[in-house]
Amino acid sequence: MRPTLRPGMLRLLSLTLLAVQALADVTTGIPDPAPPGFEEWESPIVLPAPAVKGSGDWASAVARARTFVKGLTLPEKINITTGVDVLNRCVGNTGTIPRIGWPGLCLEDSPLGVRFADFASAFPAGINAAATWDVNLIKARGVAMAQEHRGKGVNVALGPMTNMGRVAAGGRNWEGFGGDPFLSGVATAATIEGMQSVGVIATVKHYIGNEQEHFRGGSESAQIQSSNIDDKTLHEVYAWPFAEAVKAGVGAVMCSYNLINQTQACQNSKLINGVLKEELGFQGFVMSDWAAMIDGVRPALAGLDMNMPGFVGYGVGPQDDPDPATATNSWWGHALIDMVNNGSVPEARVDDMVTRTIAAWYKMGQDKNYPHVSFSQLTEATYLNGELVNEHVNVQGDHYKNIREIGAASTILLKNTKSALPLHVKNIKRIGVFGSDAGPHPVGPNACSDGQRDKGCNEGTLAMGWGSGTANFPYLVDPLAAINQHIQSINPTVVVEGVLDDFNLAAQTAVASLADTCVVFVSADSGEGYITVDGNAGDRTNLTLWGNGENLINNVAASCANTIVVQHVVGPVLVESWIDNPNITAVLHAGIPGQETGNALVDVLFGDGPQATNPSGRLPYTIAKQRSDYPADVLYESSDNVPQITYSEGVNIDYRWFDLKNIAPRFEFGFGLSYTTFGYSGLQTSHHGRRANQHYSTTTTAAHSSSAAPASSKPASTLSASSAPASAPALHSASVSAPISASASASGSVSASASASASASASASASASGNATSTASAPPVGSSPVSDIGGPAALYETAATISFRVQNTGKLAGNEVSQLYLGFPDGYGQPPKILRGFARTLLSPGQSKTVSLPLRKKDVSVWDVVSQQWVQVKGTVKVYIGSSSRNIHLQGELQL
Ligand SMILES: *[C@@H]1O[C@H](CO)[C@@H](O)[C@H](O)[C@H]1NC(C)=O
Ligand SMILES: *[C@@H]1O[C@H](CO)[C@@H](O)[C@H](O)[C@H]1NC(C)=O
Ligand SMILES: *[C@@H]1O[C@H](CO)[C@@H](O)[C@H](O)[C@H]1NC(C)=O
Ligand SMILES: *[C@@H]1O[C@H](CO)[C@@H](O)[C@H](O)[C@H]1NC(C)=O
Ligand SMILES: *[C@@H]1O[C@H](CO)[C@@H](O)[C@H](O)[C@H]1NC(C)=O
Ligand SMILES: *[C@@H]1O[C@H](CO)[C@@H](O)[C@H](O)[C@H]1NC(C)=O
Repeated sequence: MRPTLRPGMLRLLSLTLLAVQALADVTTGIPDPAPPGFEEWESPIVLPAPAVKGSGDWASAVARARTFVKGLTLPEKINITTGVDVLNRCVGNTGTIPRIGWPGLCLEDSPLGVRFADFASAFPAGINAAATWDVNLIKARGVAMAQEHRGKGVNVALGPMTNMGRVAAGGRNWEGFGGDPFLSGVATAATIEGMQSVGVIATVKHYIGNEQEHFRGGSESAQIQSSNIDDKTLHEVYAWPFAEAVKAGVGAVMCSYNLINQTQACQNSKLINGVLKEELGFQGFVMSDWAAMIDGVRPALAGLDMNMPGFVGYGVGPQDDPDPATATNSWWGHALIDMVNNGSVPEARVDDMVTRTIAAWYKMGQDKNYPHVSFSQLTEATYLNGELVNEHVNVQGDHYKNIREIGAASTILLKNTKSALPLHVKNIKRIGVFGSDAGPHPVGPNACSDGQRDKGCNEGTLAMGWGSGTANFPYLVDPLAAINQHIQSINPTVVVEGVLDDFNLAAQTAVASLADTCVVFVSADSGEGYITVDGNAGDRTNLTLWGNGENLINNVAASCANTIVVQHVVGPVLVESWIDNPNITAVLHAGIPGQETGNALVDVLFGDGPQATNPSGRLPYTIAKQRSDYPADVLYESSDNVPQITYSEGVNIDYRWFDLKNIAPRFEFGFGLSYTTFGYSGLQTSHHGRRANQHYSTTTTAAHSSSAAPASSKPASTLSASSAPASAPALHSASVSAPISASASASGSVSASASASASASASASASASGNATSTASAPPVGSSPVSDIGGPAALYETAATISFRVQNTGKLAGNEVSQLYLGFPDGYGQPPKILRGFARTLLSPGQSKTVSLPLRKKDVSVWDVVSQQWVQVKGTVKVYIGSSSRNIHLQGELQL
């Protein structure tokens, strides 16, 4: 989504698309046609839209919503489905229903804070949250962010973002949780649980295949790309975190701008009706990304529930009426009334749109004492046109603590030689600090020299990318200020010299050659495609450092034998030109940590501060030696109306590809060093039968763990007897090896065309990603659509538990992030290793703990494209326990 009105090419765009899609016919099930050479990549029509069932813990909210909707007129219903334009208090606002006093919904960005608000916090980006590998910290971040949204009166927060970082240069990768679906799924679910625990409706986005900014669609682009994703890859990678979000009870899903298999995401009935609402049993509502709709009837039939922000497109002018039910220049609004009246959209579909929306509102308890909207995204001033719009409510609480803790916990130590780190002030006489990334922003933390908004520049220290996924900094503690303050507090006679000019090599050399300690700050930025920064139209043009970063590093290192590099980067950067220089003694990869960036860095850099932190951050993506080592890249140029982006690497994104192709990365997924050392022992695998009912939980530090210590600052001193690994022999039972399906009977709502397309997708998938043979004793396709939330409940039962001991074998307390990878038997179309568990465990020197990681049935299953369900693998599954995806300490086997 995007913020301000800009001249656009929407009309041209719609005409182009309508022409391209002229052959599609929803009612007869004819899909949008693919261009020559891409015939297999078409998206089937799946009708009708499944009506909300009121499953599980949605039952009472849905029942109340049904009653609510029964009392509404059609125009009142329309008011809930369509926004009232962006020129309003929030970036998205539904209509209201004055007759019954229903206040409407405020929808507001972003995934890292309340966008455009004052007295609110700027949290670490999603990619930093993921780099902690700490479920509790991630959940606490979700709680804190949502408290701020709630405090400002936001009903629907537009996050988390959980796209997969398919391409390393992808502009918005930093908003999400990295390059692995499991890690992403855990982080997404924990964030949503945290957010919704305080009554804010979370929005998981962007559904789906919005993996690059070039040609992503929307009114910035006359060309919209089609992400061509096979069915197996969709389920096992891209839809995985969305499934975890649905399982976690997410209230809203945002469909993306791009096309998938030629069909625009918000009118892709296979994805919304078929996958999201039928297969995953999603009970909430689906909203469009801002001005993502390119038609009115098709999205309604395909399962879209809310048109945001209401107008037709950017640059076409505002809605012609502040009342959605009478606005005529909207894809919905008054047009949706016409569609109902002329029979092209059943009123029952409109009822379902509203029921889903109001159910989410009830489920979060927003009908009781919810704060009113007390800010305006349009101004931080108190009044706008004489109206009081900003009450300046301070919602920050003590969230700076969570921000600082995540900042430190997400800092990844990539290199540490000669015991360079941690620094101690008593050992420093003269320290040089280098680079514009160490210092403050020349025109303030929320402004750019050229007047650009939304952080659309890279000036001063980088603590956030650009675009709609941003928030205002209430303050920004830059690294130089924090280093100065820390050193001053211990020994004010140390010389601290900052050279913030990246290009003044002589000044750098003058300081570096006299310093005993040199800290060089460098950065690489990216963001959303509606802003171009230094030639980077959202996506990065290169994977190297920005500005003069490499020269800066090499220049300082040439005259300082103790050079420490700190990178503030949105994703992987290539480090080959300097990483092996022996004068570069340490490297910290700090990501984009938000408002407390300098303090968080000091906590890791120095071992003598009040909050000194032993680094435990781990890479949520792979840092390659060269760009071409990655499995896929951004499509930057195309003359096609609909540029085709085929995900031909299939499930093998990020480290999976490097493992599969035997390519040595520079730093692998999961990598990160510590100031202490850890030992591993005692791997045990135990296999559960059908009675197993351990559920995914975020109440401990371990993802899916039942026994790791909570993330407190005090090490646990004792180990409870119950955490000892179970040693029961593997138990084979019929339920374990059978296809995993719901007990619910077929609802019959998936049409015959869906069945036909399912077998078409099976063969296409086989050609696209290797051996996609059916492994199930499969029931007929389409006979078992499931209704449990998140898919069949059985998927989330525990299939096995893996446990092992971790010991701190060094001299400093620290957290170890243990990672569980599985190697599936041949024939399931999998790379050598896939992440299926992790735990962050705090250990004092000498201490050891048992870590126990339950594997859910879903974690030991693959998506069967023929039977259209998850099937548990059979045979010997390899079990790897490591401190990264390549540093494996223990190996075992699990018989399934
Ligand atoms: C896209 O096309 C592939 C290949 O035919 C198929 O496997 C997949 O199910 C399709 N996905 C959608 C959403 O249409
Ligand atoms: C729809 O919402 C608008 C904007 O809040 C409001 O002015 C109008 O009265 C509402 N229409 C109906 C039919 O309730
Ligand atoms: C029904 O009305 C909608 C909205 O005005 C219009 O787009 C559609 O073409 C109409 N359909 C028929 C069959 O008249
Ligand atoms: C990479 O892109 C950045 C940002 O545009 C630029 O500053 C830098 O010079 C580029 N690096 C190279 C080696 O071209
Ligand atoms: C390392 O730094 C020293 C100065 O302390 C310098 O003489 C030497 O050339 C540097 N080495 C490299 C590889 O830059
Ligand atoms: C498919 O199966 C064949 C035969 O088992 C095997 O040689 C091949 O490597 C497999 N391909 C993939 C992509 O798994």
